Amino acid sequence: MKLIALSGSLRHGSFNTKLAHEAARLAPEDVHVTVETIHGIPLYDADAEVQEGLPERVTALKNAIMAADGLLLVTPEYNNSIPGVFKNAIDWLSRPDADIKRVFGGRPVALTGASPGGFGTILSQNAWLPVFRTLKVNFWSGGRLLVSRAQGAFGESGTLANPATEEQLKTFMAGFAAFIRMAQPEP
Ligand code: FNR
Repeated sequence: MKLIALSGSLRHGSFNTKLAHEAARLAPEDVHVTVETIHGIPLYDADAEVQEGLPERVTALKNAIMAADGLLLVTPEYNNSIPGVFKNAIDWLSRPDADIKRVFGGRPVALTGASPGGFGTILSQNAWLPVFRTLKVNFWSGGRLLVSRAQGAFGESGTLANPATEEQLKTFMAGFAAFIRMAQPEP
């Protein structure tokens, strides 16, 4: 099984990008997770879309998502909601083009996130739900993982410092993989 873990932060040293890498490390053995970021995606501009089509980076990410069995969004929280840069990326990715009409409809999607606060992106995660409904993703709500106090959650090498959080992430990834297997039984 192939998954994409998309981090919604541009920050060097991002907790969410670290969490995406940890999701890859702690996924079940037969699940290969590729970490992607939103670097290189311009601000959405409907005129540019009409004149130039989708930006190269958007097309590349759409292709990567199409080739995967599921998508894990790793979201920061800004002002108790979705960071604009991440929403902008998803807005671009939701646009149809001649090759790939839609990448989100029916696609298994899971959500996690990390923040230095005590509530670990709970409001940002909730804010994604109406977006997922509109995009008609196949959202996995069977697990919830909020990494709070993120400044202390990762060690020097970027791995999760607390074995209990590691275990939670392992369980989360196994649950998402099982959900995808149920949704798309292998031939
Ligand atoms: C934040 N941050 C933040 N954190 C949080 O838990 N709840 C919040 O509402 C906000 N609001 C907020 C607004 C803005 C404009 C910024 C720039 C930041 C802090 C945020 O969680 C922190 O910067 C994280 O480090 C962002 O994630 P990455 O970049 O480390 O992945």
